[in-house]
Amino acid sequence: MNRRCAFITMDSMDGFVCDDDLAIPALKKLNWEVEKVSWRARDTDWGRFGIVVIRSPWDYPTDAPRFLALLEEIEKSGTPLQNPLELVRWNLHKSYLASLSESGVSIVPTRWLDQPRPRDIRALFLEFATDTLVIKPSVGANAEHAHVLEAEKMAQIWPGIQPVFEYRQAMVQPFRPAIQSEGEYSLMFIDGALSHTIRKKPKEGDFRSQEEHGADISLVEPESLLAKRAAEAIAALSARPLYGRADMIRNPDGDFEVMELELVEPSLYLRMDPAAPERFARAIVRRAMNRA
Ligand SMILES: Nc1ncnc2c1ncn2[C@@H]1O[C@H](COP(=O)(O)OP(=O)(O)O)[C@@H](O)[C@H]1O
Ligand SMILES: [Mg+2]
Repeated sequence: MNRRCAFITMDSMDGFVCDDDLAIPALKKLNWEVEKVSWRARDTDWGRFGIVVIRSPWDYPTDAPRFLALLEEIEKSGTPLQNPLELVRWNLHKSYLASLSESGVSIVPTRWLDQPRPRDIRALFLEFATDTLVIKPSVGANAEHAHVLEAEKMAQIWPGIQPVFEYRQAMVQPFRPAIQSEGEYSLMFIDGALSHTIRKKPKEGDFRSQEEHGADISLVEPESLLAKRAAEAIAALSARPLYGRADMIRNPDGDFEVMELELVEPSLYLRMDPAAPERFARAIVRRAMNRA
């Protein structure tokens, strides 16, 4: 049995917080070695590995076709890839939210717009019966190019925002005020089961829940409705992922909605739960064994 696991990462992790190293000693205890391979590396012999796990290739959007070509190469090699290419491909564009919604999953109401114009935005204030919207790119991360649109400030702010979406598809959603009062929840699923949950609360005056933007992160026990809604999103997938992170927000009715379901390279916040690294390591080994 080949007990070597590749973690797909990036050339340099300088400036990034990455918890995946915590899984390395946990795998070691199970007699597995981890080798980190940058997604930009060429001519890797994937046959040397018992499994390849996509973990932190966080700059892949600079060349998404090359990233996909690498994943195709890994799949062709016959070495198991997690998450599988089929799920990754589906998850790269946030239009997956529409397909989740069609499966009955509760998502933040979303409209997709190519080259949005002020009249399109005005129509959405009416459609969503709100005076505050969020506009963000359909392909993106880290809240980059995410903006709050207030109806009465459109004339001032729109000229600065429109150019961003000239060549990028936009997603528009009602602004969920719970982001500021309560924050956003990330529920980590390992092998289809809920592992641990964190709450990400933006800093005072901000609406972005990323650590990089100063948000506060804490380990929480999810209320049952929250866990149920997130599990419904995982259950709607075409295959059970090795790892998945459901980012959830409370709506004004008190129910929870999926803001994002991350299946490509989510940070899994392994440091927040002492049992999580071992849980992840065991799931990796199970996947490798099943295919061996
Ligand atoms: N509809 C919304 N209501 C309130 N805040 C939002 C909404 N959509 C996004 N945000 C904020 O913007 C951040 C980035 O949006 P998100 O959809 O998570 O994209 P990404 O994390 O890929 O950049 C979220 O983490 C949240 O803090
Ligand atoms: Mg997000």
